[in-house]
Amino acid sequence: MKHAFVIAILAAGQGTRFKSRRAKVLHAAGGRTLIEHVVRAARELPAGGIFVIVGYQADAVSAAVRAIPGPMPGSGVQFIRQEGPLGTGHAVRCGRAEFELAAPHVMILSGDTPLLASSTLRRFVEAHMESEAAASVMTAELQDPSGYGRIVRGLNDSIAAIVEHKSASPKQLQIREINTGIYCFQTRPLFAELERLAPDPITKEYYLTDVIGLLHMKGLPVAAHRAEDPSEVLGVNTRVELAEVDQLLRERKARELMLAGVTLLQPATILIDPDVEIGPDSVVEPGVSLLGTTRMGEGCRIGAHSVIADSELAAGVTVNPSCVITEARIASGAVVGPFSRLRPESEIGPDARIGNFVEIKKSRIGRGAKAQHLSYLGDATIGDETNIGAGTITCNYDGEKKSQTVIEDHVFIGSGTELVAPVRVEKNAYVAAGSTITEDVPADSLALARSRQTNKPGWVAARKKKMAPSKASH
Ligand code: UD1
Ligand code: CA
Repeated sequence: MKHAFVIAILAAGQGTRFKSRRAKVLHAAGGRTLIEHVVRAARELPAGGIFVIVGYQADAVSAAVRAIPGPMPGSGVQFIRQEGPLGTGHAVRCGRAEFELAAPHVMILSGDTPLLASSTLRRFVEAHMESEAAASVMTAELQDPSGYGRIVRGLNDSIAAIVEHKSASPKQLQIREINTGIYCFQTRPLFAELERLAPDPITKEYYLTDVIGLLHMKGLPVAAHRAEDPSEVLGVNTRVELAEVDQLLRERKARELMLAGVTLLQPATILIDPDVEIGPDSVVEPGVSLLGTTRMGEGCRIGAHSVIADSELAAGVTVNPSCVITEARIASGAVVGPFSRLRPESEIGPDARIGNFVEIKKSRIGRGAKAQHLSYLGDATIGDETNIGAGTITCNYDGEKKSQTVIEDHVFIGSGTELVAPVRVEKNAYVAAGSTITEDVPADSLALARSRQTNKPGWVAARKKKMAPSKASH
């Protein structure tokens, strides 16, 4: 036994109070699933192994855990299956074979308690191992303890029992010290008592919390460790609690960014995922969502109500309000929006301008190029300093396949142009407004592809005259 302790994470329950078809621990708060938060905190500790107990939707839960990024393949986590699930006591008992061999102590975490910091857990397990306690319980003093198991103290301040909310007497309900669901046990006495555990007479579940009372009755010491910050121990049982936890996690992230030099206007209205990076002196306006792996450099400005996912913005990029940007890259000095849509594989060059109601997909826009109004550019390459007139459309799809449009440097595309791909417009060329371009345009030339206009003088008066008698006859 090289390590002093292993970690068990309980994640086999359905989460009845959550009223979801999906396992509760797979719901997200602060941009990560509940179970991911717990696994990440556990991985920071010097444990001999991390075991996740899975049961309800076991395959989906294990897949989500294995997908958590990190240095070890498959997250460095092992899985134990709980068939049932018959309660938290039964869940731990399912790991007997693994835990008894692995280490003299086991730390138990709940998959639905995502705010606990690894530093808090580390202090807890260290204190447990220094003590002689057969078990240690992390407790917290809550203003509103309802729903949680209550800590009943015995002589010498040791814990005599944990009473579940449902089973508590009116006097016990007054107790404000609660069980956080985080424990450390000496492995041997834990499993000895788990074997003797009887199910709750009403719910028929085996409560891990009953082990505490059994240990106490044997005269074995059970220690309590009060969490310093009660907001860390919040357990998520309902969607109301999910929203509370989400808010706390978003606040943590926002605070971190603001302390690193980012201005967030009305931060409570801004949604920022945990892996998002923002350079100092950037300003994020109200109602913005910054999602996934989005990264931006210094001095950017993100306009109100824009949604940016998995994108990369260099320094000094301006995104005006109400843009939707996904998997795009924007070089420094570029200005996008308002109301622009950048779809995956859009690359906007330095100092380029992308304006109102312009949609770009899988296209590269050159340095200083402009597409300011009402355009669709798909599967296209636009050269440096090229101007794309209002209402220009690349016709990239013929019903079967996508084709490329190439517009070279210093080209002027007049308003209302359609470019039927595959097609190329060479450098310095002009395309007249309203053209439908089906053939390549050579360098330095003008392309006109529309019918000549005819004006008929006096036509309106002639028509009126023709119509008048027929109208009178009715
Ligand atoms: C539990 C504690 C309660 C404590 C609270 C803290 C018990 C009996 N009660 O109550 O004292 O105050 O946590 O948040 O332990 N799970 C399994 N298998 C099962 C049942 C549950 O793996 O058979 C998992 C769940 O997926 C969940 C965790 O255990 O991640 C806790 O279960 P939950 O039903 O939420 O317990 P609580 O009622 O909150
Ligand atoms: Ca819970």
